[in-house]
Amino acid sequence: MSAAVIDGKEFAATLRARIADYAATFEQSAGRKAGLAVVLVGEDPASQVYVKSKGKQTVECGMASFEHKLPADTAEADLLAVIERLNNDPAVDGILVQLPLPPHMDEQKVIAAINPDKDVDGFHTTSVGRLWTGLEGFVPCTPYGCIMLLKDQLGSLSGLDAVVIGRSNIVGKPMAALLLAESCTVTIAHSRTRDLAEVVRRADIVVAAVGRPEMVKGSWIKPGATVIDVGINRLPPAEGESKGRLVGDVDYAEAAAVAGAITPVPGGVGPMTIAVLLRNALVAAHRNAGVALADGAL
Ligand code: GUN
Repeated sequence: MSAAVIDGKEFAATLRARIADYAATFEQSAGRKAGLAVVLVGEDPASQVYVKSKGKQTVECGMASFEHKLPADTAEADLLAVIERLNNDPAVDGILVQLPLPPHMDEQKVIAAINPDKDVDGFHTTSVGRLWTGLEGFVPCTPYGCIMLLKDQLGSLSGLDAVVIGRSNIVGKPMAALLLAESCTVTIAHSRTRDLAEVVRRADIVVAAVGRPEMVKGSWIKPGATVIDVGINRLPPAEGESKGRLVGDVDYAEAAAVAGAITPVPGGVGPMTIAVLLRNALVAAHRNAGVALADGAL
């Protein structure tokens, strides 16, 4: 068997086109563009690439992008002051503080300073509580993107066995909440899980988010299962290569021979994260401006 390849790049492009349509309608109704502010502290190269991409795609979708770049030695109080200004700025609908922050800052304290109505990352404890209790709020972008791909591939997820490998606040935990909300039977596996291969073998849906290159083997996958690979790992350069290959947390070649469907790396989950961020920012704009958005529109 050879798995269907889930094309996240194409799915994200279609979603962005829909967002651009709704952003134009929003601008006409509200008399202003929807606005997303991104705050970057320091010069982490990966974060710089993400932030640049976010700004570019925000503008391409017809929304306003506000970038705040602060030096790595910024005092925490100064970052909190920037967040407070953005909380009170009516042109800003969504605020994203790029993680990781420099080690002298308390990430939880910084996230707690963001107005939950502008928390487009879904990281504030209010957003987390809303997610787990089924209330309307913001859902972290990467897991929400995974759910979109899964529902597009499988239709209803009700009753399916799902295993999430990884228990981070950004992916693993919210992913489990979303799968539970779709009526899956959910297992959260992690580095201390005993006999991980056996746990994964039971699953109709496998979501791998551990950050360990090609850790999930083809022999662990139940035939026909749907595999969502959230990992993005760069291997050391092979002989003659200047840069190492990008691989996921799943051994793609092995898993694709067994699975029913699988996301590639790159081009699977990765492109969904920013598309969902823009979606969340536009939903925030409608709520903040009191402009109605049809149920299920985005
Ligand atoms: N760093 C890596 N992923 C993310 C994300 O989704 N949001 C933020 N704010 N920082 C990140």
